[in-house]
Amino acid sequence: MRRRNRYPGAVQEITSPIPQYLSALLDAVRDEQSGHVADYIPELASADPNPLGIAMCTVSGRIYSAGDCDVPFTLQSISKPFAYALALQERGIETVMATVGMEPSGEAFNELSLDGKSNLPMNPMINAGAIAVNQLINGEDSTVEDRVEVIRSLMSDLAGRDLGFNESLCYSELDHADRNLSIAHMLRSYGVIRDTAHDAVLSYTRQCAIETTARDLAAMVATLGNGGVQPITGKRVLDPDVCRLTMAVMSSAGMYDAAGRWMARVGIPAKSGVSGGLIGTLPGQLGIATFSPRLDQEGNSVRGTMLFEKLSQQMGLHLMNPLPVGVHAVRAIEERGEDTVIVLQGMINFSAAESIIHEISTRDFSAHRLVLDVTRVVQVDGVGKRMLGSTLLRMRRAGYDIGVYDPEKRLLGLVLSDGTRAPRLKGLKGLKERLR
Ligand code: DON
Repeated sequence: MRRRNRYPGAVQEITSPIPQYLSALLDAVRDEQSGHVADYIPELASADPNPLGIAMCTVSGRIYSAGDCDVPFTLQSISKPFAYALALQERGIETVMATVGMEPSGEAFNELSLDGKSNLPMNPMINAGAIAVNQLINGEDSTVEDRVEVIRSLMSDLAGRDLGFNESLCYSELDHADRNLSIAHMLRSYGVIRDTAHDAVLSYTRQCAIETTARDLAAMVATLGNGGVQPITGKRVLDPDVCRLTMAVMSSAGMYDAAGRWMARVGIPAKSGVSGGLIGTLPGQLGIATFSPRLDQEGNSVRGTMLFEKLSQQMGLHLMNPLPVGVHAVRAIEERGEDTVIVLQGMINFSAAESIIHEISTRDFSAHRLVLDVTRVVQVDGVGKRMLGSTLLRMRRAGYDIGVYDPEKRLLGLVLSDGTRAPRLKGLKGLKERLR
């Protein structure tokens, strides 16, 4: 909410430059007319090829958008990573891996192919894998109707609103589903699925016909990047391990036979759909969704691909950009009377803990007591906690008294490697002076 405390001399509000940037990004690709709308589904063949929209959702739940970000379209293959996540969540990694692999296939999304050795679909992003994954949801004995409702409900939790189906598009696709029916027959003949080919394709096609907008999709994919908590509603929808695995498979197989080029040029785990949507997420940062129906030869949106390329290059959003996490984890080392206070800051993970240990182990301290001050630490992950615990123990074994100053309880549950705890200090001498 905006706070009304503007300086009387200010003439206008300070606004974010991001919406304007996104509009300019759309303008930069607007005139690109190459590619074709998908024509193997009659209702998609007659779709308007012109809409162009983009939305971005941060893991803090802020949405930025431009253009046709509220125009509804069907998920199609964009449903695949979310259905995969649901199957992982319900059935566990082992069961899912016994049904579908996680290697890029290097083939078209609708190829009639299985892994030569295992006779399993290569990955959950191609149709063969997605039809098999769909069958895992809500148990093998589920009716089509119940299974599809469980999927719709998960997609709704991810979007933060109740989603529905595009019925006419669904039945238009089912009338021309020979290819997916052959895939389902193939899966059944190898014992990968139990349902009839008809029911398996019906269930999968309804999953593909769930309707969303780019704005919904930005929040849905940001939920994966946020470890499973929907950033706007705050609801935990998926487990962090499930999200990590889903994003990993998206990064290797989400863009079909363009996956290698995509990772090099864009570097954002992504998934495309034949209705023109494209989603991507940078773990811990944001989710992005674009909508533009004309597709390239691989079945990926032409202008969507251009938008992602530009965003990645212009905004430094490539996954492989090095983030110097932990470089400045030790903010200061201060002598305070009898104590030496080691002031930590930021997020403490493996790399941050490593740099803290390096700082501590390469110094001589004159004070008798060493204190870790974690008031400026934002978060400590499990590895960071274990490493700080073992460092505190080494400090004690080296002959120092130890203590932690942790009023926000960032180190809650920290136990040293010998099972003892570090004394918690109620205050620090000279703290007021430092904060001022
Ligand atoms: O099964 C199909 O062919 C469609 N329902 C979905 C394919 C799709 O979106 C491929 N992605 N680019």
